[in-house]
Amino acid sequence: MKHLLAAADLSPEEIRFLLNAAKKMAPALKREKEAGRSASLPILTGKTIVNLFFENSTRTRMSFDVAIRQLGAGAMNFAASTSSVTKGETLIDTAKNIEAMGPHAIVVRHSSAGSPHFLSKNVSVPVINAGDGFHEHPTQGLLDLYTMEEKLGTVAGKRVVIMGDIAHSRVARSNIHLLRKMGASVAVCAPPTLLPPSPETLGVDYAYRPEELLGDADVVMCLRIQLERQNRMQIPSLSEYSAFWGLSLERAALLKPGCIILHPGPVNRGVELDTEVADGPRSVILDQVFNGVLVRMAVLATLVDRPKLEKWLATNGNG
Ligand code: CP
Repeated sequence: MKHLLAAADLSPEEIRFLLNAAKKMAPALKREKEAGRSASLPILTGKTIVNLFFENSTRTRMSFDVAIRQLGAGAMNFAASTSSVTKGETLIDTAKNIEAMGPHAIVVRHSSAGSPHFLSKNVSVPVINAGDGFHEHPTQGLLDLYTMEEKLGTVAGKRVVIMGDIAHSRVARSNIHLLRKMGASVAVCAPPTLLPPSPETLGVDYAYRPEELLGDADVVMCLRIQLERQNRMQIPSLSEYSAFWGLSLERAALLKPGCIILHPGPVNRGVELDTEVADGPRSVILDQVFNGVLVRMAVLATLVDRPKLEKWLATNGNG
């Protein structure tokens, strides 16, 4: 692995290596968090990582920032809205100027699908995709998979139902790639206008009504409607969406015992997910956020200094 551009590129062995590394980091991170300390796993001491964000973010950018600091590295944070992009500088000029300052990896989020691939061909350091348009969000998919395994033991043979704006969701795409590679059965549910054409080509089952899928689910993942990626709203109204496709308390009552509920955030409460369900006992949304730091630590350490990570895992990886 030189870069992390797409979940589609990862082999089951690479996925397992990243998840195992994250799992072995968990006790140390929890211990240091409770003690109020940071830089708990100094695997990347002296390195610098750039967070290059051309699109807004709360969880992903801050999670990478925390992961970088926990590994003992320095973070350079870039937000397009306060940069010289506003004066007309291009993506490639921006990246090449930042690369000239000597970072050891670039984390990039951009509204254009394929931007991280383009960057990876033009810079010499590892590039990590933090979300590119509606294409992929591989670290989100990895943290979702980590969270499912943490709660269920394995995803092999489990039924995962992804509900919401599948057509415009990079999170859905990354999850589908990872879950299928690890042996889960995946179904998607949305109104026809929010499903991609021929959803079966993704290797998933699909239904237009949640009631057809919820009773068999081991995991339900709700997604928000990505209005920023639609030329015009493709449903009559948000309240109609909520009435027919939202995960309300009434629909959540159809779930079997032990079924967990995920959401990558940001949650639009009362639209795709009711507050009582988002904050209820099945919800693992905040576990996803904590696990995101672990998974991103594993990804950064693997790409920037894998020999040092492997040495750390050999000597510290037993908790
Ligand atoms: N899940 C996710 O990508 O959230 P942000 O857009 O806040 O980073």
